[in-house]
Amino acid sequence: MAMRPPDTERLSVMTLEELKRQAEISLSGLGVDNEAAIEKKFADAWDAMVQERRHLIQHSADITFSRRVREFRNLFLARGHGLVARIKANWLDATPKTLKPFAGREFNTLRLNAENLLEEDAILKIVSSRQSFGKSEPREEVDLTLPGNRRPLGSLHPVTQMQREIEEIFLNLGFRIESGPEIESVYYNFDALNIPESHPSRDDWDTLYIDSKTVLRTHTSPVQIRAMEKYGAPLYIIIPGKCYRHDNPDASHSPMFHQIEGLAIASDITFADLKGTLDFFARKLFGEKVRTRFQPSFFPFTEPSGEVSISCIFCGGEGCRVCKESGWIEVMGCGMVHPLVLRNGGIDPEKYTGWAFGLGIDRFAMLKYDINDIQLFFQSDVRFLKQF
Ligand code: DAH
Repeated sequence: MAMRPPDTERLSVMTLEELKRQAEISLSGLGVDNEAAIEKKFADAWDAMVQERRHLIQHSADITFSRRVREFRNLFLARGHGLVARIKANWLDATPKTLKPFAGREFNTLRLNAENLLEEDAILKIVSSRQSFGKSEPREEVDLTLPGNRRPLGSLHPVTQMQREIEEIFLNLGFRIESGPEIESVYYNFDALNIPESHPSRDDWDTLYIDSKTVLRTHTSPVQIRAMEKYGAPLYIIIPGKCYRHDNPDASHSPMFHQIEGLAIASDITFADLKGTLDFFARKLFGEKVRTRFQPSFFPFTEPSGEVSISCIFCGGEGCRVCKESGWIEVMGCGMVHPLVLRNGGIDPEKYTGWAFGLGIDRFAMLKYDINDIQLFFQSDVRFLKQF
């Protein structure tokens, strides 16, 4: 029996009742005793099944789609009493050895065709229930040859793209990527980093507390300590990740944002290494023409501390609205790791020195892609996201 559309022109298609009756009789009992006759019998059976299905579809105005699917399944494929099972028992299993291989092939085709019909029905059901969301189930057929709904491929979020670009530069310099928990202890987030009890950043108004000993980390710096404890020195890592602060959302603030921390520890690390590395990094990221400027600053976990600016990438340093006519844009904090911080991480400051930096990935992405509102990153507006 070939897989062919049912022959609607043929006048005498076997009725379902007749098929049910014949399915209880062996092939030899039906006088079928050669391959041609077997092929015809299975073809008739298939026609009867297809006709019954069409009948059900056309005359099922008062039953729902899902009930119809259930009815088909029951009628054709139910174990034991389903038509396919009856045909197997009486037409196949009871067939003499010589005709069995042929009958077997015919039977398998019939079974597969019946299963395919039901699968098609299941698809119809999904399609029609989508179209009728909130309405009662429709009864009209759906044209399965129509093209489906296209689901466009997504792309990496601009913040993720920026993060990967930064990671790439440091990975090429021999740094490894490290991560740590976003729910962090007060010890790692503040104490171990030499941030005094009285520091304003510890305030409820700046830090989101889970309880008195646990915070949502306010920066990626606590992973410095965790990594020192875990790996010791020498250590060359960058730490990308989410950070949280008690800030109201506005064009330049978000209660959740992203940082990348850098940390290099070895026996002979100097401030010159820090300057050279960050200068190289800035040129790789923003182009060879970009210059860096280091100014003194203060962070409790570095001594000395610095603030890094790059020459304005919009005006080339001439002065514009973005750089507030200064020609420079401040992009990160950095410094030589404080000896107390090394010690807190289990590293002997007499033997090792190190530098560190911390930057905001979102801010870098805003600079690189000329975006003036950080909120755009977190609104999931496809019109915005698909530009990257
Ligand atoms: N953790 C600082 C912040 O969130 C950024 C920072 C400054 C990190 C200097 C450093 C550093 O590692 O050396 O503002």
